[in-house]
Amino acid sequence: MSSQRGEFGSRFGFIMAAAGSAVGLGNIWGFPTQAASNGGAAFVVVYLLLAFLLAYPVLMAELTLGRHAHGNMITALAKVSRNGTQRGLGTLVGIVGIFTASLILSFYAIVSGWMIGFGLAYPLNALGATDASTWLSEFSFNRNLLLMLVFMVLTMTVVAGGVEKGIERWSKRLMPALIVTLVALALYVLTLDGAAEGLAVYLVPDLSKIWSTDLIFNAMGAAFFSLSLGVGTMLIYGSYISDEEHLPTLGAQVALVDVGIAVLAGFLILPAMYVAADRGVMIFNEAGGLLSEDTLIFVVLPALFDSMNETGTVLALAFFGLMSIAALTSSISMLEVPVSFLVERFQWGRLQAALVATVIISAMSTAIVANFDLLFGLVITVSTRYSQPLLGLALCLYAGWVWRRDLLLKELAKNEPVIEPTLFMKWWPWYVRFVCPTIVVVILVRTIA
Ligand code: PHE
Repeated sequence: MSSQRGEFGSRFGFIMAAAGSAVGLGNIWGFPTQAASNGGAAFVVVYLLLAFLLAYPVLMAELTLGRHAHGNMITALAKVSRNGTQRGLGTLVGIVGIFTASLILSFYAIVSGWMIGFGLAYPLNALGATDASTWLSEFSFNRNLLLMLVFMVLTMTVVAGGVEKGIERWSKRLMPALIVTLVALALYVLTLDGAAEGLAVYLVPDLSKIWSTDLIFNAMGAAFFSLSLGVGTMLIYGSYISDEEHLPTLGAQVALVDVGIAVLAGFLILPAMYVAADRGVMIFNEAGGLLSEDTLIFVVLPALFDSMNETGTVLALAFFGLMSIAALTSSISMLEVPVSFLVERFQWGRLQAALVATVIISAMSTAIVANFDLLFGLVITVSTRYSQPLLGLALCLYAGWVWRRDLLLKELAKNEPVIEPTLFMKWWPWYVRFVCPTIVVVILVRTIA
């Protein structure tokens, strides 16, 4: 292996980095309310099934392809190709992947900027700087732009530091802080009046909703988004794993942390909403559904924090701090996709690559900020609902059909003298070949048709 390439220094470091990528805004603001409005525990079950039966096998395809190639998605797909057409198509898929990762970051950075803004607004308000606090928490072009740039610079700084000294080091610091904060917040909120009702909404299944096409399509998009799949993030992180590591175990640990934190976030968000309702905050929309996503985070929860005076300030700081950390460990993995490509393809230094990628993505983000109503929702739908599952499909086809089976197995069992016929080894290659592509195609066709 080339000594120039970065590598994760430890197994723990890799798990924190990959779980950091996976655990993001999707887990904390998306999953709990989607669960609440889609049948509670019934949705949780569908989501868990999709996470383990579809997303985990695709995650394994990415990690294995990445470690095999010790390179980005374009290099990896070319390396397993057996003819020019496959290589050409692989390059195309790789380019779409890099573009999609950049597109996701361009909207993600806007939302993450809001998290930082709200996180600062509360202490500023408590210190008497009410104008600054209001500016930070009200929607405006200038605020959106400035905070997005702040967040992009933070992301760039970590990525420019390199794999071990930037990404791994910060993930190892931030992820434990995230987990501790999340658990502490949930435990506190569960003691408040109204929390039990929220818990019931989360945990009592409404099976009538489970077969709706929308629910399954949304759960698939959510599962792909949540595990950061399709766009080459996990592939490039896989390329930094040492050959000594057992990939199926590492992948399973990352998937477990991701799903575990999503489920845990449900124990915070839903009780918090019903605590807010108990204090007179409106938590339902006109159609009678629970308020979700941006309204939930930036209207309902702030109203709750406001009703609690000093305790509210502390809770708000902890909550928006938590969201900012979750966002940062994800955004660095998105930026790593174009950065690793520039470094590997043009032999640029990391700093130069990180700067150029940051400037381009910030420009895309600025275009969204300037045409918010038109572009924001559109970019999210195109990149996460369509592009990610389709790219995931392409990755399964490369891992399952293009890559020679014996070479694939050898990569998986790199450090073992003989290939043990474990359950995973027996089933997974067959599974990514037939089952994963079929699930993705059936869900997409059912939704579009
Ligand atoms: N998994 C991240 C989240 O849940 C989002 C993400 C998508 C990260 C694609 C990297 C690549 O917020």
